[in-house]
Amino acid sequence: MSIVRPESMERITTKELADAFIEEQIKEVRETVGDKKVLLALSGGVDSSVVAALLIKAIGKQLVCVHVNHGLMRKGESEQVIEVFKNGLDANLIYVDATDRFLDLLKDVAEPEKKRKIIGGEFIKVFDEEAAKLSDIKFLAQGTIYPDILESDGVKAHHNVGGLPEDMEMELVEPVKLLYKDEVRVVGSALGLPDEMVYRQPFPGPGLGVRCLGAITRDRLEALREADAILREEFDNCGLAKTVWQYFIAVPDMKSVGVKDSKRYEGWPAIIRAVNTTDAMTATIEEIPYEVLHKITARITNEVEGINRVLLDLTPKPIGTIEWE
Ligand code: XMP
Repeated sequence: MSIVRPESMERITTKELADAFIEEQIKEVRETVGDKKVLLALSGGVDSSVVAALLIKAIGKQLVCVHVNHGLMRKGESEQVIEVFKNGLDANLIYVDATDRFLDLLKDVAEPEKKRKIIGGEFIKVFDEEAAKLSDIKFLAQGTIYPDILESDGVKAHHNVGGLPEDMEMELVEPVKLLYKDEVRVVGSALGLPDEMVYRQPFPGPGLGVRCLGAITRDRLEALREADAILREEFDNCGLAKTVWQYFIAVPDMKSVGVKDSKRYEGWPAIIRAVNTTDAMTATIEEIPYEVLHKITARITNEVEGINRVLLDLTPKPIGTIEWE
C-alpha cells in the first residue's frame, strides 16, 4: 500500500475542520494544476460530487466534468447532477445521454457478471470518447477515498464501475484520498452540497442494471425506476431514509397473474430490500413497520405500470448478498 494516512491527521468532524481541509486542498490543487485543465467523471455519487465541488472552488472552469447517463440511473439522478453542478455551481459540465448505447448492448444479456462487464466497458468507452474531444487536459480527478486504498482487494474494487482507462496519460488529482466516508460527507456539507447528495445511500456503479434482474427490457427497467422512486419517497416520509443503510427495489424477469379493474392483469413483482451494515460484508434486515409496507404496496401497485405484487426480502447477508445480482 503506497499511501498511508498520517497518524497525526485529525478526524474531520466539524465544519471548522472541514473548512480548514478545504482551504488546504484548494492551495495544493492550484499549485499542482496551475492553469491546466482537469477532467472528472461525475456520477453524482458522494465522492465524485464532493471532489467536483472542491475543484470548482479551487479552479473553476478549468475543471471539466463529464456526467455519463447510462440509462440505469435512479429517477431524477442525472437531473440533480445538472441542477446542482451546472445551474447551481456554474460548472463546466458535459452531459452525455448514452442510454440507447448501453441498453442496446445489454439487450438479451441475462448473466450478471456479463452485464457488469458491458456496463463498465462501455462507460470507459464513452468517457474516453468525450476526453478525446477535449484538448489540453493534463489531469484526471478521481473521488478515491481512504477505504478504497485500504480495501483495494475488497468489495468495491472488484466490481466497481467507473474505473477509468489505465492508458490515459494524465496525472491523478485525488483530493479526498485520505478521508473516510463520514469525513467526505462533512466536507461536502461544508462545501454547500445538498443533504440528499451528501447523505445518500450507496448506489452500485452498474446502477439499476443489476436490479432489473436477468435480461433488461426498457419497460421493466422503467417499472423498476418508478417503484424505486416510490420506495425512496416513502422512506423519506417516515424517517427510515435517515437510519437504513441501503434500500431499493429489484424486479425479476417473471410475471404472475393478478386482477385489475375486474380484468386479468399480469405483472412483475417488486421486491423490497432494506439492509443495515457497517462494511457491506455482512448485513442485517431493517424492520419496516407494516403500515409503511402497506402504503408502499398500495402506491407501487396503483401507480406503476406493469407491477402487480410487492414482496419483502427478509434475507440477511450471508446468505443473501445485498444486491440480487
Ligand atoms: P453485495 O451485493 O456484494 O453488495 O452484497 C455489497 C455492496 O456493494 C455494492 N455493489 C456494487 N457496487 N459496483 C459497485 O460499485 C457493483 O458492481 C456492485 N455490486 C454490488 C452493493 O450495492 C452493496 O452496497
